[in-house]
Amino acid sequence: MKKFNVLIVGGGSTWTPGLLKSLANRKTQFPINRLVMLDTNAERQSVIGEYAKVLFKEEYPELDFHYTTDKEEAYRDDLDFVFCQIRTGGYAMREQDEKIPLSLGLIGQETCGPGGFSYGMRSIKDMAEIVENVRAKTDKAWILNYTNPAAIVAIAIQKLFPEDKRILNICDQPENLLRSYGRLLGGMSPRDFEPKYYGLNHFGWFTHLYDKDGKDYLPELEQMILSGGFRPADYEQRDKSWLETYAMVEQMVRDFPGYLPNTYLQYYLYPDKVLKKLNPEFTRANEVMAGREKRVFEECQRVAEAGTSQDSNVVANDAHGEFIIIVAESIAYNQGQTFIVILENNGIIENLPNDAMVEVPAALTIHGPKPFAVGKIPTFHKGLIEGQNAYEQLTVEAYLENSYEKALQALTLNRTVVSAQQARQVLDALIEANGDLFPELKKAERELE
Ligand code: G6P
Ligand code: MN
Repeated sequence: MKKFNVLIVGGGSTWTPGLLKSLANRKTQFPINRLVMLDTNAERQSVIGEYAKVLFKEEYPELDFHYTTDKEEAYRDDLDFVFCQIRTGGYAMREQDEKIPLSLGLIGQETCGPGGFSYGMRSIKDMAEIVENVRAKTDKAWILNYTNPAAIVAIAIQKLFPEDKRILNICDQPENLLRSYGRLLGGMSPRDFEPKYYGLNHFGWFTHLYDKDGKDYLPELEQMILSGGFRPADYEQRDKSWLETYAMVEQMVRDFPGYLPNTYLQYYLYPDKVLKKLNPEFTRANEVMAGREKRVFEECQRVAEAGTSQDSNVVANDAHGEFIIIVAESIAYNQGQTFIVILENNGIIENLPNDAMVEVPAALTIHGPKPFAVGKIPTFHKGLIEGQNAYEQLTVEAYLENSYEKALQALTLNRTVVSAQQARQVLDALIEANGDLFPELKKAERELE
C-alpha cells in the first residue's frame, strides 16, 4: 500500500490535535510516510507539535513527523496531500469581526455577514500564497482546503487558479449535521446516508437523506425535530452558542418544511431574532478562547509533560479531523465515495450561474470530484442563493480590484445588512480595524457635476 506525504498548513490550530488523533486512528486506511505541520505562529505550533510527538511515539512510531515554521522545509516536491486550515489574524481578529458589526446592530459572525466579509479579505491572500508555494514544487499534490470563509475563499481560488484541478474546498458542517441526524435516528453513521443537498457553503439545504436501500429519512427527521426530538446530546457541537444554533433548526423546519437547513442559515433568515441572542461583550470568539482553545492547549502541554497521551480524552474524534482524511482516502484510492463538497457550478444546479461555487454531493475519485446533477431548484432557494452568491462574488472582486465601491455593494447585498448606510459604516470600521491585513480598498475618483 502506498504511503503518503502530507503537509498540514495551520498546524497551530485548535483543530489540529483532533486531526492528528484521527490520522493515528486511520493509519491502516490512510498510511502516512512523512507528516509535516507548518504554522507562522511558532509558539502555538510547538505546543501542538510536542503533543504530537508523544501521541505518535505511542500510536504511530513508524511516522516521520516534523513541525516547522520554515516554508522551505514544508513545501516539497514529494507531497501527496496538503491540508489547509489557516486563520489569518487569529482569534483576536475573529473577535473584531464579530464585535464590530454587533456594535452597529448587525450580525457578528465568523463566516456570515460583515464578519465573514472581513475574514474573507484577510484569508484570500494567505490562501493564494499557499497554493503558489505548493505549485512551485509540485502539480501532483492535492490541496484540501478548510480555510474559512470557505464560500469566499473558494471563489477567489477558483478565479486565481482556474486551471488547477487538484484544489478541493471543503467544509465539515454538512458532515457534522449528518453525524447529528445519524445519532437522532438511533445510531446511523454519515456513511449510511446518500444525501441530496444543494446550496453555497454555510448556505444550503438537505432535500433527501436516503439510506443504501433507498429509504428517505428526511420526512421522519423533520417530524422528530418538530416534536422536540433534536436533543442537545444529538448535536455534534455542544458549546452554549452551538446549542442555541441547533435549537433554531426547529423554527427553520417549521417555517420552511420539506428541507433540513444548514445551521448557518439562521443568520440570514432570522437576523433580528439571532441578534438578540448574540452578546456584543462576549462573542463566539470569546467562548472559543475561554473554552476549546484553552482546553486544547492545556491538554497538549499536559500530555507533553507527562510523556504519554494514553489517559487523554480531551482530543476527540471530531468531524473536522476525520472528514478531511476520508475525503483524501476517497481520492487517493479512487473509492468514489460521496461527500458534500464545494465545486464550480457549471450546470450542476441548472438554474444558477456557472461560476457560482456551489456545495453539493459528489463522488470523489482519483480524477477529482464527479458531482451529481441537481437540476432546477425552487424559486425561494434560487433567489436566496443568487443574492448570497452576488455578495460573495462582489467581495472577491472588491479584493482583486482593490475596489471600495464593490465592497460597499457586497455588504449592501448581504441579507444580514440590507441598509447601504449601515453597510458603509461597518465597512469603514472593518477597514480601520484590519489595517494592513486588508487589501487597499480604493474609492473611485469621480467628480459629480
Ligand atoms: C463548523 C463550520 C466551520 C467552523 C466550525 C467552528 O465546523 O463548518 O466552518 O469554523 O464549525 O466554529 P467554532 O465557532 O466552533 O469555532
Ligand atoms: Mn464550514
